[in-house]
Amino acid sequence: MLDNYGRKIEYLRISLTDKCNLRCIYCMPEKGVEKKCHNEVMKCEEITKIVKAAANLGIKKIRYTGGEPLIFKGIEELVYNTAQTPGIRDIGITTNGILLNDLIHDLKQAGLKRLNISLDTLKEDKFKKITRYGDLNKVLRGIEKCLSLGLTPLKINTVLLKGINDDEIGDFINLTKELPIHVRFIELMPIGEGVKFYKKSAMTSDEVLERFPNLIPIKSLETSTAELYRLKDAKGKVGFISPLSCKFCRDCNKIRITSEGMIKPCLHSQEEVDIKEYIDNEVLLISKLKKAILSKPQEHKIEVNKRSETKRMMFQIGG
Ligand code: 5AD
Ligand code: SF4
Repeated sequence: MLDNYGRKIEYLRISLTDKCNLRCIYCMPEKGVEKKCHNEVMKCEEITKIVKAAANLGIKKIRYTGGEPLIFKGIEELVYNTAQTPGIRDIGITTNGILLNDLIHDLKQAGLKRLNISLDTLKEDKFKKITRYGDLNKVLRGIEKCLSLGLTPLKINTVLLKGINDDEIGDFINLTKELPIHVRFIELMPIGEGVKFYKKSAMTSDEVLERFPNLIPIKSLETSTAELYRLKDAKGKVGFISPLSCKFCRDCNKIRITSEGMIKPCLHSQEEVDIKEYIDNEVLLISKLKKAILSKPQEHKIEVNKRSETKRMMFQIGG
């Protein structure tokens, strides 16, 4: 459906959990997050009902995020139910890749179409430092398996961290030469733990583009959040997601739901609509979803060098 500013809202991102099996330094506090009561977070059947109601309003694309969505119990069933929902044409997952090797075969069978893997370094010791205890080899094995199963193009999301991984930007770009991988560089956002790193480590897409003049601009979809480039004759692409330095609100086609069933019409706003108690009543659920879409602001208020208005952390919203 159209929102108040004529944008066609077709994309719903659902955070399945705010827990994660990693603790990236710019995302999660070292001790992790408070355990939610089991009935506070939505379950597979509840999410399936939301997807159905959303499809009724013209949502065509679903993306499951986290925290880490692959630790959600019943993820395969959820992807299957989603794929069976009339109107849903595209299902994606954004994952840190740790569990991919074990799950990707079944997820693909269930109907998963797209995968975004968050990966900030290709070096084992640095991976341990950034994620606090992750094993890079698990992620690399998962990526290989996705490629061998033909789950392409595979997207790799890399958060730019000056002084931490900016020495590897060229290595990430070079991955696209021979592999059908889209590497997308994401500007660090001053949200949650990211605030602590923002001053020292934030880096803009323009800084990267200046360093890599061999990247050739190519046309991207209007609703795409990434500006696209490619190396000459490369199999993959290079994208830049610049939430702060370049506002893409004008073409924003999405809404988000947290794992507790709160709709967020805009990532950076404090506004939320609680739908948990309406999940079993389809009519009310659809009307609440409609209300949330109509309350989408024209643009976010976040500015370069300022903290986001949202009180939530990225692991609660899923990016
Ligand atoms: N800025 C930009 N991206 C972030 N992520 C987490 N925190 C931030 C931040 N402050 C990304 C990570 C994560 C994905 C869901 O969002 O790559 O895995
Ligand atoms: Fe987990 Fe992604 Fe946050 Fe790292 S950045 S702790 S992988 S949610």
